[in-house]
Amino acid sequence: DQTAKSGYNHFMAKEIHEQPASLRQCLRGRVNELSGSVSVEELSDIDSPESVQLVACGTSYHAALYVARLFRAHGVPAQAHLASEYVTAPAPFDSDSLLIGITQSGETADTLSALREAQRRGASTLAVTNVVGSTAARECDHVVYIRAGPEIGVAATKTFSSQLATGNLLVEKLCASGTKRTSESTRELIPALRDLPNQLQSVIDNSTAKSVVEEYLDYDAYFFIGRGLHRPVALEGALKFKEITYEHAEGFAAGELKHGPLALVTQRTPIFAVVTGDGERAQKTISNIKEVQARDAPVVAVTDGQSEVRRYANHTLEIPQTHPRIAPVLANTQLQLVAYHMADRMNRSIDKPRNLAKSVTVE
Ligand code: G6P
Repeated sequence: DQTAKSGYNHFMAKEIHEQPASLRQCLRGRVNELSGSVSVEELSDIDSPESVQLVACGTSYHAALYVARLFRAHGVPAQAHLASEYVTAPAPFDSDSLLIGITQSGETADTLSALREAQRRGASTLAVTNVVGSTAARECDHVVYIRAGPEIGVAATKTFSSQLATGNLLVEKLCASGTKRTSESTRELIPALRDLPNQLQSVIDNSTAKSVVEEYLDYDAYFFIGRGLHRPVALEGALKFKEITYEHAEGFAAGELKHGPLALVTQRTPIFAVVTGDGERAQKTISNIKEVQARDAPVVAVTDGQSEVRRYANHTLEIPQTHPRIAPVLANTQLQLVAYHMADRMNRSIDKPRNLAKSVTVE
């Protein structure tokens, strides 16, 4: 067991640290810096869809939310659905729609059911999965592998970052219909993808998450906020945290705080806020931070230092500056480390949290 963990105390720690390598593996041969283009061999015979629906569960659903936003930013209507909900009320689609199932294992019953239901109604399906030959890979019309390597920890880590990276490749490939906007965004994205593994390594090497969590033991609840592409990161940060610490944690769209969750905010509810860049989104999230601070809640900001969020946060977790689409991957790494160190400090069963399974094969 200890050998399999390569000296780490937990598979989760090993897998968090493996991310620079798993991302390199995900991107290898798929990003061409010279031509400034993306190629995904598995997708050579797929047409650009008119619209996209994504189905997934758990962490993969958070990846689906992120990928849906990328498609929409490219002008392709896209919506992410919880697979268990989709089955009972599938969204309408036409013959040019693509149904994408994101599933690490390729075996999650809810996701398979949603994909099968869509297939029954004539949809074209694409599986985004980590497991070669898995049920989703076999049953879908198309498959793209995230190439993260085996993940043992029940709480998904490296597979989430590879799902996000693969999502970028997918969107570039499927939306590359020659629009000026698309080619420009691809050109800027490619160097950011190239730098991602090294930047993620520096996040891991320099993270202060371990000492920050010491300040926040024994609080009532932990909230995570973000807007735009950082909303899925906030949701995933909270999911990771609750899965392995057993503490109450919730993720919210930053703008929704004032529509309800603010009633829960006290000096006993630390807020983890993801804020990068210095544009309008960052400014709005900083306004939300001020709202929680007015209720005496401590704030931990995950930031690239571009905005003045440091002035308002009690602690910061730093990430390097990068393309706005890539910042969520780096921010998520900090939140993985927050969850991990908190759970470790609390002596939780990190790799096998109570009541949870790595792959859920019942609906
Ligand atoms: C389980 C796991 C989660 C995972 C979810 C979806 O609940 O504990 O970590 O995100 O299943 O799994 P999938 O294999 O479909 O991505």
